[in-house]
Amino acid sequence: MNAVTSLKSVVHPYTTAPFDLARIRADFPILKLSVNGKPLAYLDNAASAQMSQSVLDRLIQYQTREHANIHRAVHYLSETATAAYEGARKKIQRFINAREEREVIFTRGTTDAVNLVMHGYGRALLGDNDEIIISQLEHHSNIVPWQMLCQEKGCKLRVIPCNDAGELLLDEYERLFNARTKFVAITHVSNALGTVNPVKDMIATAHRHGVPVLVDGAQAAPHLKVDVQDLDCDFYCFSAHKLCGPTGIGILHGKAVHLEKMQPYQGGGDMILSVTFEKTTYNVIPYKFEAGTPPIAAAIGLGAAVDYLNGVGMEHVATWEHQLLEYATRELGQMKGVRMIGTAKDKAAVLSFNVDGVHPHDVGTILNEEGVAVRTGHHCAQPVMQRFGVPATARASFCFYNTLEEVDQLVAGIRRVQKMFA
Ligand SMILES: Cc1ncc(COP(=O)(O)O)c(C=O)c1O
Repeated sequence: MNAVTSLKSVVHPYTTAPFDLARIRADFPILKLSVNGKPLAYLDNAASAQMSQSVLDRLIQYQTREHANIHRAVHYLSETATAAYEGARKKIQRFINAREEREVIFTRGTTDAVNLVMHGYGRALLGDNDEIIISQLEHHSNIVPWQMLCQEKGCKLRVIPCNDAGELLLDEYERLFNARTKFVAITHVSNALGTVNPVKDMIATAHRHGVPVLVDGAQAAPHLKVDVQDLDCDFYCFSAHKLCGPTGIGILHGKAVHLEKMQPYQGGGDMILSVTFEKTTYNVIPYKFEAGTPPIAAAIGLGAAVDYLNGVGMEHVATWEHQLLEYATRELGQMKGVRMIGTAKDKAAVLSFNVDGVHPHDVGTILNEEGVAVRTGHHCAQPVMQRFGVPATARASFCFYNTLEEVDQLVAGIRRVQKMFA
C-alpha cells in the first residue's frame, strides 16, 4: 500500500484510488498552483483538462529538435516530423480501436469534426424533408451544424426527449424513425449532466433502420474506454484538450466506407493528388480531409496524452472518477438547499448543481475565492437548461487526478456560499 492510499484510508474511509494519486498529481505541474491563497482544486475538466509534464516535454522536444512541415520534403526534419505526426495517428487508432489508420482524421476539435461530417456527408447526401435525429442532451456543437444543414437543404431535426433524471427516452427514440430518417447525431456523455447514453444500443437501433450514426465523444473519450468497432458507430469525434492534450486538435473517426464517398470539407494543399486549372483530383483518406498545414505539434502532443492515459489505464481512470463522482454526489446530496441537476443511473464525472436563492455565477465566484474552479453557465447546452427550467448551473467535473479532499474543498465552499446568502 502506498503512502497516499494509506492516508486516504485514514482521512477518507469512503474509498481509495486504484493508483498512486500523489504520483499522478506530481505529473501535472499546474495542479501545484494556489489561487487566492488556497490550494487550487481544479474541477473544470469537462471544459478543458490539464496536460502532464510528459505532454509538455513532448511539445518542447518537437519544437526544439523535430519541427518542419510534414509530408512535403525529403530532408531529415520533415521526415522526423512526418513520422511523429503519423505516429500520433497510429496511437489514436489503437486508443479507440479503429479498424484502420486512414479512418482517423485530425481536426481542430469536436466542433470541427461535426462540421466536417455535416459538410462532407450531410450536404452531399441529405435533401428536402430528410430527417436528422439528435437528442435533448446535445452540446450546441452537435445541434447548430445540423440546423444549418436543415436551413440549407430543407431537412428536419427530430429530438429525442429525456426524463427528469436526464436519461434519454429510448422508446421515443425508436418512434422517431421513419422512411425519411437519414442521420442520427448523439452525444455519448452529456457535458451538462454527465448522463452516459447507451450509444451502443442506440447505434444498433439506427442501423436496423439503415441509418448511420455520429457519436459526439467529447465527454466520453477522456473518461471511458472507447472502442469504435465494438460500438459500430459510423463517426466518432472528440477533442484533445479534454483528454489532457493540447488545444487546437481533435479527432474524427469515420468508417472508411463513408469517408471515401464524402466531399472534402476544405480545399487546399495536402488534400490533393493533382491540380490543373481544369480539374483537381483529391487525395486519399485521411489526407482528403486535412487541407493545409495541420497543427503538427498539437497532434504529436495528443499522441503523448494518449500514451499517458494508457499508462494510467482507462479502466483505472473510469473507476477513480466514478468514486469521486459518487462521493461528491453523496456529500452534495446531504446539503439542504443544493439541487443536483442530472441524476441518471449511469453517469460520468460531471456534477451539475444549483444553490437555492443564489445565481450560479455567484456560486462560481465565491468558490473561486476558495480556490475551487468550477464552470457556471449554460455549458453550451441551452436546450438542457430549458428542459430543467434553469438559466444556468454550477458544474464540477472531475479528472482522474482529482482527490476526495478537493471534493471536500468544494463542499466547504458551497457552505460558505450558503452562509453569505443566508
Ligand atoms: C459534449 C461536447 N461536445 C462538443 C464539445 C465541443 O468541443 P470543442 O469546443 O473542443 O470543439 C464539447 C465541449 O465542451 C462537449 O462537451
